[in-house]
Amino acid sequence: MTPMLSRRTFLQASAALGGAFALGAGLAARAGTTPGPQVLTAQLAQAQITVDGVTPVMTYGLGDAPHAALPPVLRMRKGEAYAARLVNRLDEPTTVHWHGLRIANAMDGVPEMTQPYVYPGDHFDYLFTPPDAGTFWYHPHCNTLTQMGHGLTGVIVVENPADPNFDAEIVLNLRDWRLGAGGKYIDPFKPRHAARGGTYGTVRTANWQQEPVYDAPAGGLVRVRIVATDVTRIYTIGVEGAEAKVVALDGNPVEHPFLLDRMDIGPGQRVDLVLRMPDGEGARATLGNFRGSNPWTIASFRAAGPSLKRHHRDVAPLPANPVAEADLSTAKRIPLELTATAEHKATPSICGSLGFTFWALNKVPWPGDTPDPIAPIEELKLGKSYVLEIANRTPHAHPIHLHGLSFRILSSNKRSFLPPPTDTILLLPDEQAEVALVADNPGDWVIHCHIIEHQKTGMTGYFKII
Ligand code: C2O
Ligand code: CU
Repeated sequence: MTPMLSRRTFLQASAALGGAFALGAGLAARAGTTPGPQVLTAQLAQAQITVDGVTPVMTYGLGDAPHAALPPVLRMRKGEAYAARLVNRLDEPTTVHWHGLRIANAMDGVPEMTQPYVYPGDHFDYLFTPPDAGTFWYHPHCNTLTQMGHGLTGVIVVENPADPNFDAEIVLNLRDWRLGAGGKYIDPFKPRHAARGGTYGTVRTANWQQEPVYDAPAGGLVRVRIVATDVTRIYTIGVEGAEAKVVALDGNPVEHPFLLDRMDIGPGQRVDLVLRMPDGEGARATLGNFRGSNPWTIASFRAAGPSLKRHHRDVAPLPANPVAEADLSTAKRIPLELTATAEHKATPSICGSLGFTFWALNKVPWPGDTPDPIAPIEELKLGKSYVLEIANRTPHAHPIHLHGLSFRILSSNKRSFLPPPTDTILLLPDEQAEVALVADNPGDWVIHCHIIEHQKTGMTGYFKII
């Protein structure tokens, strides 16, 4: 006898198949019913990251089933409601932040500020509608150096039915692991590095693999979604053996796609490439990191099958996202200085403290996640335009991420190419940049460096929009 599947069982069964879930949810939506929440279970697992041992990792799985290692790519649709239930099967509190999604403040995942901690065994229901299509990611906002460092970083793809079709899509989640002999974790950071550029991992991976190789149709156009989820590393990416065009940055389409030469991408940032695969079967294109004096391979792509003989001009541009343009004639200007400090002792927090304070925004170091935070950097009026005058007064680069809003880089003393609107700007050493935004999303929105050691040792603040 064949057991009948309820819709819920069907969704959970298809959720177990990962990519198939998007199809299931789509079918349910078309049938006019609301799919149940996607159950996202934070859990412990084992991963083979080095050849000489198995590493205990933290991951997310879909539904109840144990999940192996790499967190799933979550697929959502622009303008369609998405529901997820975070179930915490870790042995410490956690939350989920949806990096780059301009959603309601209560769904933003910042403990104390926007939601309670989710304790082991508890759950929290997220429900929101992503307004923008593109490449985003999700991660905890609690004890992040450990939780993200041990694997809780996953990619979000927000689809737009109006997006052009590609011959293939490859998602690359780039991060390092701080592992020693036998795949065991070593000290998560060194204070002297936290006070400088941050502590680097020892094992470099894409999708939790060292130098993975992906097959893609020869002569085809492949959308490669690259997400830098590492807690420290800034990459300088480049592709060799094929032409790649940059079509979107940090989720937003670039106005005029251009050939990738070298591009910096800091923690939190995303690059969408259209890679034109080589024609010859077996030929390879390589994505590399060219920062520093020893370039290395991040991942490669092997041409498979007869050539599709495609051209970059065969695909239409990506449709723009509805990010409001600031009114510069009325915009209020707000200085935002990134500085080093030695002022404060760190405050202990349920979500972890590194025990040091090295950094500050506008000279005020963030005390950590507390029920009683410091004053906002500034109170913004809902609907008004603002220009942030960001000045990096340090000799280190800082990827500064603002929650809940996108901003446009207006000018900089260090760059000529101005990217489309973004949620994360990689401030170069001594860079001064002006960025503009419309305060169109009410709530308390944190802004912080995405080098997690900097975030957790003072380089965090928030804006209050009312
Ligand atoms: Cu990607 Cu506050 O984080
Ligand atoms: Cu920083």
